[in-house]
Amino acid sequence: MKVNGPRLRADLEALAQIGRNSDGGIDRTALSAEDAAARTWYESRCQEAGLEVRCDKWANMVAGAAHSWDGAAVWTGSHLDTVPDGGALDGALGVVAALECVRRITEEHLELAHPVQAVVFADEEGNYSHLFGSYGLVHGYSDRQLAAMTGREGDALTDALRDFSWRTGEPFDPGRIRHFVELHIEQGPILEQRDIPIGVVTSIVGLGGAEVVFTGRADHAGTTPMTMRRDPGRAAGAFLTRLADIAASIGDDAVITCGRFSFQPGASNVVPDAANLALDFRAPTSDQVEALTRALSTAAHECASAHDVGCAVHLDQPVSPVELDAEVRDIIRAAAVRNVLPTMDIPSGAGHDSQNMSRIAPTGMIFVPSHAGRSHSRFEHTDPELLENGATVLLETLVSLAR
Ligand code: GLV
Ligand code: MN
Ligand code: MN
Ligand code: MN
Repeated sequence: MKVNGPRLRADLEALAQIGRNSDGGIDRTALSAEDAAARTWYESRCQEAGLEVRCDKWANMVAGAAHSWDGAAVWTGSHLDTVPDGGALDGALGVVAALECVRRITEEHLELAHPVQAVVFADEEGNYSHLFGSYGLVHGYSDRQLAAMTGREGDALTDALRDFSWRTGEPFDPGRIRHFVELHIEQGPILEQRDIPIGVVTSIVGLGGAEVVFTGRADHAGTTPMTMRRDPGRAAGAFLTRLADIAASIGDDAVITCGRFSFQPGASNVVPDAANLALDFRAPTSDQVEALTRALSTAAHECASAHDVGCAVHLDQPVSPVELDAEVRDIIRAAAVRNVLPTMDIPSGAGHDSQNMSRIAPTGMIFVPSHAGRSHSRFEHTDPELLENGATVLLETLVSLAR
């Protein structure tokens, strides 16, 4: 059984128009007007297919046939939100392919023991909190946790959720989810380099995040002698130059990124009084993520004292690495073999909602190649045939799991 390739492609193209910016990238950050528009589009596509869409209080949405809401279901899906100036496939592929699979199952009138439902998780990309929706579904949030979350623009999550022009509803029962499978682009170069169309994901990296704030004293840029300054920019600069060595000291697969950096008050003729750095760090084991956390914190404080400024490190809740389910991996491999598609086992260095879902249900992920390994960029691309292959392997995997 195969997916409808032209329909899959047309859906991806339609979705890629929502939030497209003048440079050709996609701005559909979580809980934005563009995110709401994508959901409206998605819901209408679901309704055209005769599916019902329900939402929970974390802004996740699930589509299923009217009779599919009782008893255990097989879930598949991904996310509609993008990073700023993101690409057309990260998240979108898994969402559109999930809908396509549910449509094909409906069209074929397949008699399955369990319904297959398509989920869209909220804020996978961490506009407010990385993997927000799936974490909420699996663990829930306390009011205190929610109140502490702010967006990249500094706005409160609770305000954004309240103002989001998309409805929210009752929580989904995590106990109803029998299996979860996510199709995603690899976002790295390996599958393309080896000319392998299907990656069977073995594990997902552990993730940490932190905001580092160096604080000093605002002064006049022209009149304050260099020796009299308490300039947090110098500490921040020294700290940034140490990140590569810190990652290397923890392990070959450890990575650290500072993706956002700002000075306050932010004028070229003012010695800044604060420097803020947003860090993302990842490694294959929890011990390594902890070691990165300690090493980064120590380095930040050393840089601060060397430049006579203050320093605070605010850590995000880490996300543990996970192994994906061995049986689901076998089922994915078997589906690929039936379609004469070579596979390879591959770990994921990107975070995914599957990471949270694997806490409550046997979970698998299917990767398709990313051209030149590009992702989190407007240059994300995968040939349509490869996208279709991945969606067909997803479809057959879901059918095997739901029988
Ligand atoms: C999300 O895509 C992440 O891995 O940062
Ligand atoms: Mn993604
Ligand atoms: Mn992403
Ligand atoms: Mn991700």
